[in-house]
Amino acid sequence: MTLKEKLSEARQQKSALFAFNFYNLETLKGVLRAAAERERAIILQLTQSSIDYMGLTPAVSLARALLSEYRVRGWIHLDHSNSIDLCHACLDAGFDSVMIDASERPFAKNIKITRQVVRLAETFGAHVEAELGYVAKLGQDTERQGFTDPARARIFVDETGVDALAVAIGSAHGFYRGEPKLDLTLLQKIDETLGIPLVLHGGSGIPAPQIRGAVERGICKVNVATEIKNAFMKQVKRSVNENDNIDLRTVFPPAIKAVEAIAASKLDILA
Ligand code: 13P
Repeated sequence: MTLKEKLSEARQQKSALFAFNFYNLETLKGVLRAAAERERAIILQLTQSSIDYMGLTPAVSLARALLSEYRVRGWIHLDHSNSIDLCHACLDAGFDSVMIDASERPFAKNIKITRQVVRLAETFGAHVEAELGYVAKLGQDTERQGFTDPARARIFVDETGVDALAVAIGSAHGFYRGEPKLDLTLLQKIDETLGIPLVLHGGSGIPAPQIRGAVERGICKVNVATEIKNAFMKQVKRSVNENDNIDLRTVFPPAIKAVEAIAASKLDILA
């Protein structure tokens, strides 16, 4: 089943897939263990920085090998690319899906770039996600608001032919200072206007009832990154501070477990 088919099935069933970012073998293992234990399908995501860190071929090969090893149904997705060339390289490397994020460019430019990536991805039979509106990224102004406008989103989807759209409805990447409050009324309006799978970015730290509410109103993919990194690094720091053990093969397993626990807690929100 392609990711496009899976996400349209999710939309019909008012369910969603979690998309977890991974950074190394250990974080990948953590999320796969949680998914395998629950027999749940997931999306594995890589950003440009993670690809630069791991290498494109090693990262995608590792993800494929471990999906098979853990018998998890999963799709490999490029998260937040602002480059058509990177989308192309990832499609060549066998990604199932790419996100072209030109959301900070002017509307017409966002349409133009997204349309180019949609055409390119068609030749690979791959899935494309784009973004419209302002979802703050790490280091950016989380107070600034730029919620997705349903009418503009309709034009954007018609002009680009994109498969899924990341929407700005009150979430932000990274840690929230206060409790986030998603605009579920706006989300429902966007869903009714577009009729395609919608994506929630900034999934870390959003309370479970709001995630469920968003999934009932059209969100079919929920992205989680910060809490994965945080769980891993906090446990590594704890272990390193506790003793002088330099055997990383015993230092890392508790950190893998911490990632597994976080991924499991997310999957269980939509059990
Ligand atoms: P968080 O880092 O806030 O979980 O957001 C993840 C995300 O949206 C990746 O695209």
